[in-house]
Amino acid sequence: TDPAIIRNFCIIAHIDHGKSTLADRMLQLTGVVGEREAKAQYLDRMDIERERGITIKSQAVRMPWTVTAGNEAGAEPGTYVLNMIDTPGHVDFTYEVSRSLQACEAAVLLVDAAQGIEAQTLANLYLAMGADLHIIPVLNKIDLPSANVEKYALELANLVGCEPEDVLLTSAKTGVGVEALLNEIVKSVPAPVGDAAAPARALIFDSVYDTYRGVVTYVRVVDGELSHRDKIKMMSTGALHEMLEVGVISPEPMKAAKLGVGETGYLITGVKDVRQSRVGDTVTVNGRQAAEPLGGYEHPNPMVFAGLYPIDGDDYPTLRDALEKLQLNDAALTFEPETSGALGFGFRCGFLGLLHMEITRERLEREFNLDLISTAPNVVYEVHMEDGTVHIVTNPSEYPDGKIAEVREPIVNATILAPADYIGTIMELCQQKRGNLLGMDYLSEDRVEMRYTLPMGEIAFDFFDQLKSKTKGYASLNYERSGDQASDLVKVDILLQGEPVDAFSAIVHKDAAYSYGVMMAGKLKELIPRQQFEVPIQAAIGARVIARENIRAIRKDVLAKCYGGDISRKRKLLEKQKEGKKRMKMVGRVEVPQEAFVAALSTT
Ligand code: GTP
Repeated sequence: TDPAIIRNFCIIAHIDHGKSTLADRMLQLTGVVGEREAKAQYLDRMDIERERGITIKSQAVRMPWTVTAGNEAGAEPGTYVLNMIDTPGHVDFTYEVSRSLQACEAAVLLVDAAQGIEAQTLANLYLAMGADLHIIPVLNKIDLPSANVEKYALELANLVGCEPEDVLLTSAKTGVGVEALLNEIVKSVPAPVGDAAAPARALIFDSVYDTYRGVVTYVRVVDGELSHRDKIKMMSTGALHEMLEVGVISPEPMKAAKLGVGETGYLITGVKDVRQSRVGDTVTVNGRQAAEPLGGYEHPNPMVFAGLYPIDGDDYPTLRDALEKLQLNDAALTFEPETSGALGFGFRCGFLGLLHMEITRERLEREFNLDLISTAPNVVYEVHMEDGTVHIVTNPSEYPDGKIAEVREPIVNATILAPADYIGTIMELCQQKRGNLLGMDYLSEDRVEMRYTLPMGEIAFDFFDQLKSKTKGYASLNYERSGDQASDLVKVDILLQGEPVDAFSAIVHKDAAYSYGVMMAGKLKELIPRQQFEVPIQAAIGARVIARENIRAIRKDVLAKCYGGDISRKRKLLEKQKEGKKRMKMVGRVEVPQEAFVAALSTT
């Protein structure tokens, strides 16, 4: 395809502002899918994505588009090839977003006409501007009675630096304005430029595992061409792969002989693991290799860790298989076996962020039919000892003993957008979470952007939930890792009868240690049934006890309840007792019902 007729673009938006609906409408208008198929939300393939309404995996779709004479955008009549690259919208996937942006020349900045700009609109816009993309501002959902086109067009125009009249108006739902948007894309988006004669360079912006075909790698060719006869080389690792197929998606995969400058499409190499074909890497042709890769490749590092344990110990092998399967499709997911005295055999898993963790857990439970307990999530700490050694701690139970010089924790730069009425509430919350206000700007009279640095460990718990509930859902949050800092952190252990219960250990700020201890001890007192002996529950920092509760002793003899000689009832009770035993975990001499762990961990 002649690069002059190619237009590569993506749509960036805050969650729920209508990106998928607009994408579907475009597929339909360009004749790529029929009306009925469009209803099935073509770009979001996974069930969970559809239910949660978020887009996790990016893909590229090729759409032919014919511009007719006299169109309102003033685009040159002719037939064009539009490549739409779908970007993930959530903060956990920022790295993937920035890679898919680099595969485009332009971004359609989509804003809900009833909501205005939100934190992820800004975050994505900054990424797009950083990638030098042409920005097309669009207000969507103009059909809504609550749409305030005038107000938000002005807000959007101020943000991108154009006139309010230049903001396009669409309703992805009814289709109004979408044709005009396609014409505008043809007119204002620059055609891709690249050196067709140079050695091939293509950027991997997505890579998904398919049961039948192995790994499908999505690329954007920048220079040269990739043909189905080539042997390709991954520039970050030097790994060589045989090419089995190249093609484009429209909306089903279609084989092609080659992909040239400016084209987006897919490669199939028979590789079975997405980690061998990673987002951000550059593909070149073996034997005629490019000198420099495209941009810097960044290895996605997990930032949040949690232990995942099957409630039924027999499910351990199933959990391992399930994690292996998910990893085929998710280069950022890490896991390694871990044993907990309290929870048995499980895995310590690493995630990009909290949302990534929630989605992974949900997929494990739903797609593999597993019941899981997860320990409270924690971030990665660096513990510097006085003797100069450094421990990287991803699990509180591995926190070192001995003389500690300094503990460092990761911090993030957070941007919060909210109505101005909530400034006080948000400041209070951020202060409580050890935040530092960096600055504050009014986007309009009644909306502010607040910038904070916050410890990532504080965000990893319930920060977002609290922010949402304290602002009645109006605040939006975006954050990115921005280094680390030394903090006054301690490990709090929870002991039953003097035995530490590893699953409940936590690394917390010194000032929060006492309340964590009191809360956990109180909760366990409620959740653990009385035993035949007294059970002290203690929270401790090292050898120092900071909180204490007691479970009083009881003589537990279920048969005592059965007066008379009803033998069948006796047997039933005995069986019930046995059944109950199975789901008990022994901590020292103390029997703790599985439910107690689940309940104690689920509400922290
Ligand atoms: P994520 O995938 O979560 O980023 O969301 P999205 O931006 O793709 O939003 P999606 O297309 O799923 O739309 C969110 C909701 O808004 C859905 O219920 C849509 O039906 C609705 N919606 C999208 N566009 C319009 C529109 O133009 N008008 C109206 N009234 N509703 C719309």
